[in-house]
Amino acid sequence: MEVVLAEHAGFCFGVTKAVESVYEQIENNKGANIYTYGPIIHNETVVEDLEKKGVKVINSADELEGIREGIIIIRSHGVTKEEYARIKDSGLTIIDATCPFVKRIHKIVAEESEKGKGIIVVGSADHPEVQGIVSYAGEDVQVCDSPESAENIGKNGDKEYTVVAQTTFNRNKFKETVEIFKNNGYNINVVNTICNATDERQSEAESIASGADAMIVIGGAHSSNSRKLYEICRERCKYTYFIHTTDDLHLELPKDTRIVGITAGASTPKNIIEEVQNYVRTNF
Ligand code: F3S
Repeated sequence: MEVVLAEHAGFCFGVTKAVESVYEQIENNKGANIYTYGPIIHNETVVEDLEKKGVKVINSADELEGIREGIIIIRSHGVTKEEYARIKDSGLTIIDATCPFVKRIHKIVAEESEKGKGIIVVGSADHPEVQGIVSYAGEDVQVCDSPESAENIGKNGDKEYTVVAQTTFNRNKFKETVEIFKNNGYNINVVNTICNATDERQSEAESIASGADAMIVIGGAHSSNSRKLYEICRERCKYTYFIHTTDDLHLELPKDTRIVGITAGASTPKNIIEEVQNYVRTNF
């Protein structure tokens, strides 16, 4: 059996930077209170390791009450403007690991809103990255999570709209969504803000899945980019499995499986990818 591992599997640039900044703070500030605003990545193994080293997760701005001293790291998908202000008010030292690609979207929507344009964010409304983006836009901002829901987005006459995407959105679905706006006569200016890391990962996953008999996607249960990789692979390979660690590898691969493809979301550490790869090589 041949195992094909995606070259662009695992930590992206933004996640690497965020995780490294937490370890750096631990190393350089022995004895200090260190917090992350939300789990630093969607990976339980990494979060547990950080917990063991004393890092605490703050889950909402309300949990900042009563905390006056220490360091807080903002994760790669950023926070809302209001959250940032509350973290600042808390007096904690902020290490802002918001990915530059996400910051760029904050800047675009703020500037375009300032020019009087409506903003449409293509992404999941309940994802913290999208909530952050929305907070930087003016009042006229709408979120659309699929080509289907694009039909329900309100249009105000000839008003100009700027369309941006969540960095990890499925690029084919983004194209389809934009087409619907165009067909429905929206006056839109599209800025494709899907980041390169996502784009490379999705194109590669698509091509591996197209030639594989079975496909394994490794990622955290709450990782939206991993779930999107799963969707993309599933469309091309019927036997696509979404797993979190090797513990989930009790798979029934079809008998005539010759090629198994493996890819992983942006928050999957290298060692888990290697474990899965070794497991597949030795057990199937
Ligand atoms: Fe940044 Fe793209 Fe990763 S936006 S956090 S490099 S998936």
